[in-house]
Amino acid sequence: MSLTLAIIKPDAVAAGYSGKIISHLELEGFRVCAMRLARLNRAQARAFYEVHEGRPFFDDLVEFMKSGPIVPIVLEAEDAVKKLRETIGATDPDEAAEGTIRKLYAESKGRNAIHASDSDENARIEINFFFSDFERLSL
Ligand code: RTP
Ligand code: MG
Repeated sequence: MSLTLAIIKPDAVAAGYSGKIISHLELEGFRVCAMRLARLNRAQARAFYEVHEGRPFFDDLVEFMKSGPIVPIVLEAEDAVKKLRETIGATDPDEAAEGTIRKLYAESKGRNAIHASDSDENARIEINFFFSDFERLSL
């Protein structure tokens, strides 16, 4: 079993989709290991997405991610990073497969409902970002 981080983004929290998205993740077989409601300031949003600094969409992404409450969730499953990427679908909901979370709940490529870690190494870093006291064995 391995871990990954999902974040229900501000658009989906504001639209009242948090419960449906958590349920979707559980029905796909993920175990919720940690979860909280958070609100990022600009510096935190910039830090979280720092790999995208300099890209044309970076400022919009930071503004969006700090625009309202988010729900970071640590998830456990077999091959969790790959499985979650498949479960959320493509970045742009117009390109996301039927039945994926972004197809079901995302508004647009910029406001796309959910984040997922893209590697085991980034999952570890991102879990630490939101759950600095996370200790798998204690849960
Ligand atoms: P995420 O990191 O949020 O899980 O999304 P992702 O891996 O599918 O996509 P990524 O390339 O990492 O981009 C991060 C977020 O930036 C926004 N974006 N907008 N307008 C655009 O062309 C554009 N490209 C990326 C999206 O919100 C994307 O989720
Ligand atoms: Mg990404």
